[in-house]
Amino acid sequence: MDIDRRAFIASLGGTAAVGLMSSEAKADALEHWMEDQLDEQAAAAQGGQEKFPTVAELEAQIETRSYRRGTGNVFINTRGNVKKLAPMPKNPTLQDFFRLRFAPANHVLQSATRALKTGMSEEIILACLLHDCAQALMKADHGWWGAQLFEPYIPEKSAFGIRYHQTLRFYADADAGYEYPDLYYRIFGQDYTPPPHIEATYKMLRNHKWYMEPRLVTVNDLYAFDPNAKVSIDPFEDIIGRHFKTPKEGLGNDNSPSAHMWRTLANPDAPL
Ligand SMILES: [Fe+2]
Ligand SMILES: [Fe+2]
Repeated sequence: MDIDRRAFIASLGGTAAVGLMSSEAKADALEHWMEDQLDEQAAAAQGGQEKFPTVAELEAQIETRSYRRGTGNVFINTRGNVKKLAPMPKNPTLQDFFRLRFAPANHVLQSATRALKTGMSEEIILACLLHDCAQALMKADHGWWGAQLFEPYIPEKSAFGIRYHQTLRFYADADAGYEYPDLYYRIFGQDYTPPPHIEATYKMLRNHKWYMEPRLVTVNDLYAFDPNAKVSIDPFEDIIGRHFKTPKEGLGNDNSPSAHMWRTLANPDAPL
């Protein structure tokens, strides 16, 4: 497939941003880019009407893979062998994890950029910035994993937004400006219905005074690819400084309830 080099580099935030990325992160970004382009071309070839798989068709794919779909990104490379990861600094910060383990993190940076532009509260902007980072560790039930990972360090409302955005992604809310995403027809199947724990969580959230926290994360949760978007973590430094309690020992070394999760991210090659 032809790669539009300029659009690809722009999508990563320009040449300066690309220069800071590890080669692994660049390879990952290129892979995602090509997947997006293929999806778009496939949709265009079908007159803009994409045919979504059924739940049964997706289930039939399970035994065609050597990995499970819920596995975290740092553990697999779906197109060949994994690469050696750059070591983390001695007292790693959130920004170090963004640079060395979550990169290129375009999706969360784009979502947080949108939240910033649309005037969301700082708790919601922070939740948008962090909402899918736990997918490096685990994709299945990533809202709960993400909230647990960040909970010791961030405001309660941000953790609430991260935990429950996963649930609200399945339920449209026209008043809030949120539609059920095509992506979910694609990855869960067109005839998918959420499991009981998601339905029960949705019912709880509808009556919760903080319903809008995770809802506004979903409203800013972008999948639409914007080739002109220039994103970086820099505009969020102040919000991180005000609301993310970075431990002086570094993430993973502070004995918090989620320190082990940070250590696993730092060294996913540990055999035990
Ligand atoms: Fe998510
Ligand atoms: Fe997301």
